[in-house]
Amino acid sequence: MTNTSHILHGFTDLKNLDTHGAIVLNKAEGIYVYDDKGKKYLDANSGLWNSVVGFDHPKMIEAAKIQYEKFSGYHSFFGRISEPAVLLADKLIEISPFNDGKVFFTNSGSEANDTCVKLLWFLNRRKGFKKRTKIITRINSYHGVTVVSSSMTGKPYNSEFGLPLDGFVHAPCPHYWKNSNENESEEDFSKRMAYELEELIKKENPDTIAGFFAEPVMGAGGVIPPSQNYFELIQPILKKYNIPFIADEVICGFGRTGNLWGSETYNINPDIIIASKCITSGFFPLGAVIIGERMTEELMKASYEAEEFPHGFTAGGHPVACALALQAIDIIINEKLIENVRSLEPLFMGGLKAFEDMEFIGEARGIGLMGALEMVQDKKTKQPFDSSLNMGEQVANKAIEKGLICRPLGPSIVLCPPFITTPEEIDTMYSILKETLKEVFNNIR
Ligand SMILES: Cc1ncc(COP(=O)(O)O)c(C=O)c1O
Repeated sequence: MTNTSHILHGFTDLKNLDTHGAIVLNKAEGIYVYDDKGKKYLDANSGLWNSVVGFDHPKMIEAAKIQYEKFSGYHSFFGRISEPAVLLADKLIEISPFNDGKVFFTNSGSEANDTCVKLLWFLNRRKGFKKRTKIITRINSYHGVTVVSSSMTGKPYNSEFGLPLDGFVHAPCPHYWKNSNENESEEDFSKRMAYELEELIKKENPDTIAGFFAEPVMGAGGVIPPSQNYFELIQPILKKYNIPFIADEVICGFGRTGNLWGSETYNINPDIIIASKCITSGFFPLGAVIIGERMTEELMKASYEAEEFPHGFTAGGHPVACALALQAIDIIINEKLIENVRSLEPLFMGGLKAFEDMEFIGEARGIGLMGALEMVQDKKTKQPFDSSLNMGEQVANKAIEKGLICRPLGPSIVLCPPFITTPEEIDTMYSILKETLKEVFNNIR
């Protein structure tokens, strides 16, 4: 067994890890990964939402080899750029909802969000709006882990770092099942969410707000699709106060919700899109800030007046990352993987919903190929389990024993299989999960 004692794992219960040990993975086939003892796991989480074309897609491996042989790496500072980066920027604008625009490359989703905040600050200062600095996101959202993107993330664990920074404000989370009042209809709930957002904007002073960032479906918050008409109701409010809408498509982008963009699924008209994860299907780090025409125009004006946009990452827009992204996007579009997500959705969501018959499953929710089961102590009152029971961890650990990787997120279990998954593999995933839940639930009864 490999000794992993020098690894500091992020987002890992380190006490628990002492008992169970880390899992060292070093081989993959399709949607399966293998550990160093040869044990096979169905990865129902596509790695971390990202490995959607299959871990070993031959075209991806070939694309990396070709690019390494051609030109192994270069930066994009001082007006230099590699060809794959140019082609990828063109491709991203072509498939984005924008008619024109610009793309800024980073190495991760966190860096892309961070970059976007700096871009908004840069623009506002150049336009003379020095007070327009505040960023609104939502409670329970996830936007990353750099100091700025952590501050955007609406999770309680950020207090471990003394975050968020001042000026990062969190609006209510549009999770109808959890946050609605008694007898409140979903429509009324969405109206209340929109009303509360507007009240927050007014309280903060609209002239101090630089942007509103939202995931079309909250992913790491536990797969929370917006309540009915939520985005239709909030967009006119943001427009009224001149607040740019930034769609954080790090999880939803490239097909996860059954359309290329989550923004398409939920009628969002963003000013900027944040992309990462599926962009290279997990084969290389890459993030992108895709800036629509309106913001691009403003940015160009501001940049003519400033000497430069003083920002960039050494490896941002790495040619191998960009070649892999071009290949991944080609596979997603031309191998009809989004069509596969759509055709699997009834089976995936139907199977998920069936878990609501189990004693401790409070809500099964999702869209496309992303879903979650939220466990509760009492289904009627929705009373959560005592957090010391670590229900999510218990289920995920038991599932691992049975050869299934699924992710615990607080009281929820998240499933987001790769886009190449077959109906038979969905059946296998659910039958292992059902057995797992039965065993865990029997133990706590
Ligand atoms: C919506 C969203 N934004 C940003 C990020 C941060 O991306 P990264 O982990 O690549 O920094 C994530 C990561 O899960 C995410 O889900």
